Order: sequence, then C-alpha cells, then structure tokens
Amino acid sequence: MLSRAEFIRQSLETHLFFGRIMKEHSFFLQTTFTPRDEKFSKRADELRMAFGELLEDCIVLANGVISREAIASGEIVTQYTLDVEKQTEFYTGVQLNTKITQSEKGLAPGNDFNPLLERRVFALNRRALSLLDSIIQFKTTILNDVLCCKMFTMNYPLLIDHILREAKLYRRLIQRLQSREQITIQREAFEQEAFWNQIMGEHAKFIRGLLDPSEEELFNTADHFGHEFDKLVYESMEAQDRAMPVDCSRLTKESLRATKDIRDFKAQATEGLLGCKIKSVIIPLLADHTLREANHYLKLLNIFQHHC
Ligand SMILES: [Fe+2]
Ligand SMILES: [Fe+2]
Repeated sequence: MLSRAEFIRQSLETHLFFGRIMKEHSFFLQTTFTPRDEKFSKRADELRMAFGELLEDCIVLANGVISREAIASGEIVTQYTLDVEKQTEFYTGVQLNTKITQSEKGLAPGNDFNPLLERRVFALNRRALSLLDSIIQFKTTILNDVLCCKMFTMNYPLLIDHILREAKLYRRLIQRLQSREQITIQREAFEQEAFWNQIMGEHAKFIRGLLDPSEEELFNTADHFGHEFDKLVYESMEAQDRAMPVDCSRLTKESLRATKDIRDFKAQATEGLLGCKIKSVIIPLLADHTLREANHYLKLLNIFQHHC
C-alpha cells in the first residue's frame, strides 16, 4: 500500500504536469473548429477553465510538499512557458491565465505531509477524475466525428487520438493512486516506455507536418526522430509480445538518449518560433507543450535507469 507521503506527493505532481497538459489540449481543440462548430469551441473553453481551476487549487496544496526533482525537471513549466503563452494570447486573442504560470514558477519543495492534506488531495483527485471523464468523452466524440467525416477540424486526426491517449493515461494514474496501489518500477518502466516512445515519435511527425514545406533542414531532423522512435516502439512491443524479460537497461538507455536529443530539438524549435525564425503553422504553446512532455518522460527514464 502506498504511504501517505507517496500518495500526496505523487498525486500533486501528477496534476501539476497533466492538469496543465489537459488545459492546453482544450485550448488546442478550442481554436481549431470551424465556425459551424461554435458549440464545440465553447465546450472546449469550459473544459480549459475547469482544468485551470483544478491547477490553481493544486498549486496551493503542492507548495512545500513536492519534490526538488519535479520542480527541476521542467515538466511543470519551462523557461519558455510564460513567453509562449503571451505570444499565443497575442495570436489568438484567447486569455491563457498566465497567473497560473507565475505561481508555478514560485513553487517550493518540502515534506509537510499532514492528514488534513491527505483528505484534500483525495478530494482533488476525485474532482480530477470527473473532469477527466468529461474531457475523454469530448475528445472521443470529436475523434469519431472526424473519422467518419461528420466534422472537420484543423487538427490531425492522429493528434486528437494522441491527446485522448494522454487523457486516458492521466486517468489511469489517478485511479491507481486513489486505490493506493503500489506499483513495481520494473512493470511501470515497461508500460511507460512503450507509451511515451510512441508519443515522442508522434510529436516528431506532428512537427514535421506543421512546418512550412520550405523548412527542409528542420523537417529532415523531425523525420529522423520519427524513425528513431518508431524503432524504439517496435523493440519494446517485440519484447512484450515474446513475454521475455526485457533488457531493461538497454531499452531505457536508448530511450534516454533519443529523448534527450528530441528534447533539445523541441527547445530549439520553441526558441525559433518565439524569435520568428521558423516558418510553420505551429502555435508556440504547442511547441512548449511537447517540450514539457519530453521533460516529463526524461524524469521517468532517469528514475527507471536507477532501478535497472
Ligand atoms: Fe499533450
Ligand atoms: Fe503529446
């Protein structure tokens, strides 16, 4: 069974990362419907607000209880987050509540795990689960409508599927925490690496497809990452199929190297977009969003590597 300290810390760190991710997915959906689907755009806006409120309440609880590693990882905010939010607000006219980002930058680590906090975290988790049910349902409807040509959006269908999978993972993690399930690092590494290697590969492909056709050098690099992560996904699936013990250190090491490289590429892309140096249809917040997801995966890989 999970200890009180682990329950509190893991729950809050999960919300700080994934709560923002959900808020931003809602934004990516909100701005890409056609005028016909204004109702969907409004619904996405409501979900964006609701995840923003969840995040604000989470920040209050998390101050003084989260780990130094989570703060240092760059999964909560990066050095670019505030700037890309401002630029994205400027482009779209949608207010992104940068106050949240400011308070996240001020988060302090600590160990104050009291029983009252445990109850409040339990309640926050329940609220997150109910919001996640809503956003999962919303993304599923959009994906189905797009796939059977009842709806057109400016997002790739694979991107809608991708953000749906991320929401389902978030839900699974919170559910596990609520039932105080203790997880073995080995099994966790196996599952998470298969999941995030696929996500990293898809990010490379999204970036590839959203760059201007003239940005040849950049999309060649993106292509290279797409292939590299496809190979890693294939390797982990093969090992899983054969039900053989994976050479955990090798797969983890290779994933770590590839993820560090794609993290640097994403950081460079974010900077290039902010400085108006790259021609694309990538909204700056999306670049920083994928950078944070790489930082999150790197944090996990570093933990897995220590247990190999
Ligand atoms: Fe995402
Ligand atoms: Fe993603």
